[in-house]
Amino acid sequence: MDKDFPVAGFSSLAVHGGHRQDPMYAHQVPIYASSTYVYDTAEQGMRRFSGKEEGYIYSRWGNPTTTEAADKIAALETFGLKNRNGNALEVKGILHASGMAAISTLMLATLKPGDKILTHFSLYGGTDELVQKILPGLNIQAEIVDLRDLDKAEQIIETGGIKMLYLETPANPTIQCVDIDELSKIAKQHNIIVGCDNTFATPYLQQPFRYAVDFVVHSTTKFLNGHGTAIGGILLGRDIELMKTHITKVHRLLGGNANPFDAFLLIQGIKTLELRMERHCHNAMEVANYLEKHPAVANVNYTGLVSHADHWIAMKQMRHPGGMLSFELKKGLQGGIDFMNKLKMCVRTVSLGTCDTLLSHPASMSHAGVPKEQRNKYGITDGLIRMNVGIENVQDIISDLEQALK
Ligand SMILES: Cc1ncc(COP(=O)(O)O)c(C=O)c1O
Repeated sequence: MDKDFPVAGFSSLAVHGGHRQDPMYAHQVPIYASSTYVYDTAEQGMRRFSGKEEGYIYSRWGNPTTTEAADKIAALETFGLKNRNGNALEVKGILHASGMAAISTLMLATLKPGDKILTHFSLYGGTDELVQKILPGLNIQAEIVDLRDLDKAEQIIETGGIKMLYLETPANPTIQCVDIDELSKIAKQHNIIVGCDNTFATPYLQQPFRYAVDFVVHSTTKFLNGHGTAIGGILLGRDIELMKTHITKVHRLLGGNANPFDAFLLIQGIKTLELRMERHCHNAMEVANYLEKHPAVANVNYTGLVSHADHWIAMKQMRHPGGMLSFELKKGLQGGIDFMNKLKMCVRTVSLGTCDTLLSHPASMSHAGVPKEQRNKYGITDGLIRMNVGIENVQDIISDLEQALK
């Protein structure tokens, strides 16, 4: 597709975005399984190393297959957005080996000893541990609060010392949402860097660069890949110069580069993102409505339901409420275990974002080692079930839940 062709729809970019004509005229981008790249002459090698000539050098630094995946996601995260001058917004993405690798590059590239991060109390467990267990060793501390309380956020920011506001919305595993627009506006009044994890929403449902966000991260392992075939992550930044220089340097030195095979799988997955997300969201709404009326269920956390505390924030910044929900079984821990054991089609596993419906019971699985009082504080109660509502026929999903809830 020509770069100047004005696509009207998201799926056209999802299919064609980031693609370059292959020198061998392959229809699909090949898996460039090569660790290094050759030069015609020593002079060409010198030009490449000095940056005077574009070209690949070493696959930890860059690889044609991973570049295509990164450029595709960058195109989707900015689809339809304008910069301050009214031109199409452009951002730069760097593909990583995992979501955690992308988050680590972001934090280690932008924070230094003495800096503080302000973040929400409901975060993906790995990010929470990074912020609470690894970064303090570098004298980077975190203020972890309920960021839905904007006055509280402002009050903390005004006391000084905060270098980064880090958002994850909707958040894993409680599906809580925070207001990206309001929080990033407050942060920018104090020159604070804003990062946002957009994994649960994907760029089809939510574009954090629409607001005053500097960096977006994803675990591409999830909805972007869509088929559960590869671990991956991406870090995208609005300041292209900074991304090409300092952030690229840190990424290369930390060594969290993606591999071309996983990037190839990711590219194929992204092409159907819009179709899959439409179906995930449609099915999730039906399942949420069904569960809300079920006598064995105490409550359902789905931002599409008006009963969800963050329904209006989600509606403000998301196209649809997403494919993730969680619900609380009245029978607690044993009820959760019994329910999980009875599932016949839906799959018992952690992770999310795949075509098939996945269910996990955090209290007996991912959070079994976390003391109950601590779990409860984060909303991870004994009977909580987290559900990635897949794209199967929704009647079949509901029938499986029905028989397992008996
Ligand atoms: C919201 C969110 N961010 C980041 C991550 C980390 O991603 P990865 O497992 O690809 O490192 C996850 C993983 O579950 C996640 O759910």
